[in-house]
Parts: sequence; C-alpha cells; structure tokens
Amino acid sequence: LKARIKIDTERKNGSIDSLLYGNFTEHLGRCIYGGIYDPKSSMANMDGFRKDVIDATKKMGVSIVRWPGGNFVSGYHWMDGIGAKEQRPKRKDLAWGDIETNQVGTDEFMQFAKAANVAPYVCVNMGTGTLDEARNWVEYCNAPTGLYYSDLRAKNGHPEPYNVKYWGLGNEVDGEWQMGHMNAEDYSKKALEAAKLMKWSDNSIKLIASGSSNYGSDWMNWNRTVLTSLRDQIDYISLHHYSGNYDKDHYKFMAITSRVDNIIDITKGMIKEVKTRYRVQRPIYIAFDEYNVWYRAHGEQKLEEHYNMQDALVVAMYLNCFIRHADIVKMANLAQLVNVIAPMMITNDKLWMQTTYYPLQLFSENCHGESLQPFVECDTYDAGDFKQVPYLDVSSVYNEKTKELLINVVNRHKDKAIETNIANQFGQLGTKAVVYEVNSSDINDENTVNEQKVKTTEKEININGAGFVYNFPAHSFTMLKIKM
Ligand code: AHR
Repeated sequence: LKARIKIDTERKNGSIDSLLYGNFTEHLGRCIYGGIYDPKSSMANMDGFRKDVIDATKKMGVSIVRWPGGNFVSGYHWMDGIGAKEQRPKRKDLAWGDIETNQVGTDEFMQFAKAANVAPYVCVNMGTGTLDEARNWVEYCNAPTGLYYSDLRAKNGHPEPYNVKYWGLGNEVDGEWQMGHMNAEDYSKKALEAAKLMKWSDNSIKLIASGSSNYGSDWMNWNRTVLTSLRDQIDYISLHHYSGNYDKDHYKFMAITSRVDNIIDITKGMIKEVKTRYRVQRPIYIAFDEYNVWYRAHGEQKLEEHYNMQDALVVAMYLNCFIRHADIVKMANLAQLVNVIAPMMITNDKLWMQTTYYPLQLFSENCHGESLQPFVECDTYDAGDFKQVPYLDVSSVYNEKTKELLINVVNRHKDKAIETNIANQFGQLGTKAVVYEVNSSDINDENTVNEQKVKTTEKEININGAGFVYNFPAHSFTMLKIKM
C-alpha cells in the first residue's frame, strides 16, 4: 500500500491549547482512594497523596484535572468534604454504589493539584445540588477572606484563595443514568441560574456547560438548546465520548473516531449558528472533557480496564482528532487518571503504565504550537456503517518557537505497512527526523506490572529536505519530529 502526505506550514487550523492534555479524577473505584490518595501507602507524601502518581502525572504532561465527577458529582455535597476529617460524614454514592468517606474534599484536591502542577477544574452538582451550593463553592474556593465561606476556608487552614478558573455546570445531565437527569430545557434553565450566581461570585471564572454524552438520544437538540440558552454565560460546551470494540472487529473499532470528528464538526456548526443568530462576540469553545476506550469493565464493581495495543491506537486517534480541530476544541480530559479506565495502574503498591500512556505522553510533550491541515491521500476501507475510512489517520503540528514539525500517524491497517511519500509544500524540511513509535507485534498485547510490551521506541533517521518516504508499520502509532 502507498500513500501521500503533503504539509504546508502556512495552512494553519488554530493554536493548540495546552488544556488538550487534560485528565479527570472521579470518586469512583480506586481512582481517588487507593489511586491518587492513599495515606497508608509507602509512596504517600505528607498529605496522603501518592508521590509516584504525582510524578507520573507530571511526566505524562497533564495540564488540567477535572474533579470530583463524573456521575458521582450529581449527588455530591461539597460541604461534606471540608473541615476535620474525622467528623466528615460517610454517605452512599448512588452513582456507583460505593461508600464515600469524604476524606478527600476540596482542600485535599487542591493540595493534589498543586503538587501535580495541574490546573484544577471543578464540576458542580446540577443533579441533587442547589444554586446556593454552586455559588458558595465558588466563594469557598475563590473569594478573599472576609466572607462566610472564604473565612471557612481560612479556618480550615487555607487563607489564600485557590482561584479555580474552570467550573463545570454539571455532568452528563442528558443521560437517564444521571442523578437528577433533565431534559434540555430544564437543564438549561437550572444551569443558567447557577451560571449567573457563580459568575456574580467571581466573574473571572470560565464555565463549561454539560453538552452531549448520550448519542442514543436527540443529542443535537440537546447541544443546540444548551448553547442557545447559556450563550451569554458559558465559555465552553462539553462533549463526552467513549469507544469500544464490542463486535471484536478491528476495522470498525479503528473507525470510531471518525464519529468523533463528526460530533465535533456538528457542534462547531451549532456554536457558529447560535453566535451568529444572537450576535455573540465572545468565543465559545468545545471542552471534550471525557473520552477514552471503555467497554470491557462496564457494569462491573471494579471499573478497571486493561488496555492493549489496539486501544493505544484509538487514544492516539482521539488526540489526532482534537489536534485537527484545534480551532474549536480547547480542552480535552482523558477519563480517568489512575486505576479506573486509566493510563496508569497500581498493583501491589507499584505504579505501572498501560499501553495508552505512551501516545498521551508523546502528544503532550511534543504537540504545541499551531495545528496544520495536512493533505492525505491513501487507500480506504468500509467497515459496517463506516465508509471510506482512510488507513492513515493523520494530524500535524508546527511549533514556531522550536521550529519543529510534527506528523502524527496512526496506521489502521492490521497487517500491512504503508509506504508514504511525505512532501513539504513550503520551504525545505530539515535533514534529520526523530521517529517515535508505539507498537507491538500483536495488537492484543497488554502491559502488566512486570512487563511493558507496548511502549515508545525512539530513533533518528536521515531525510531528504525536499521530501522523503516513510514506511508506517502495520497497526502502529508514529510521531515524526522534524527540525525545519
Ligand atoms: O468516566 C466514567 C463515567 O463515564 C463518568 O462518571 C460519567 O460522566 C461517564 O458516563
């Protein structure tokens, strides 16, 4: 098989926001308790957070972490999680059926965020929560002392405001699985009032509306209604999407992210429609604040997936998708950070990396600057409802500061390498390229606590400045880094 990729560094498609390399920690399974927080572990720091998780979060280049849920947040009352730890109530979390001990609450999460050097992104309870709870939470986190809730924060040992910038207006309210599920009109009314009060408490915050997650429903109507009603308050609309190889069909699974491209394109069009109709001048972006492969551990008590090589390719394709839409997708959060559908796992107190860690780490380390629109010509395939899916999934980035060009390629083909002619339409390419590759001999290969079968390999190659040929191996993710 043969293909062509043409790059033009002047054909730009938006600056890449570092918030694309975000993550998510929910009170669910072993994500918070036994994940980021485990005071009994030999790895715990003074505050009870695991040093190895903190280090790995930094290494993976995570920029922002969403908390405390997820479905969990729709029944969460944040006042349960402040003050003396021994006096905090234990409650049954109706989202996942666990007992919530409230040992990690707002002040603890802020300690974690600081230690891991990530921006905190707090999602409020739009299910069983009230407008007062939402605005009081903003006051607790962001107001200087002198008000009831900010004084409470000081009394709890934190006089300085946390200045949390990103606030979510609820989680997946479009899903009937959600506590306090509503229709689009009812959600929009409640979220609008919450948004007003939260912004009146601190008008520097950025608000994220709960967009579509339920693609079996009229999700377009949901997004349009939410955008129309909240247009003067929100800075982002969220989108959620999970992928699974339910039919055990490699090619269908590899095509799923073309649906993600579609959801983004349609929502982008709606943002344009609403902004035009109501003459909204402020930008409204997409926060893709939950995405991942998740299908094996559905409905199980222990929501832990073991990822294989194939799953790593899907995660790389999600990232390609976000890069290709860098003009409108300005935040993305992989669900979740550790243990629960996560790129890192803890087994017998030891942290290890799942296959999906490697593409995430490569993107966050290298893909900064401007997203480019590459021209790609290659063979395509049909699989189920997916038609004319190109074997190569490509994104490209130009970093003006470092003068580096990145070409990110997933070869979806299960068995064949694809010989690709890479040309630059503008100026000369450098004479050397670094090749990062995530691959394994079998797409079913998984990593374990003892063995990393799937990981990044790195090599340097000589290239012809006018263009060169690269053979993308079967079922691989390759990142080419070229000095211009
Ligand atoms: O990430 C796991 C769950 O997936 C989240 O709680 C929910 O928002 C989504 O359905």
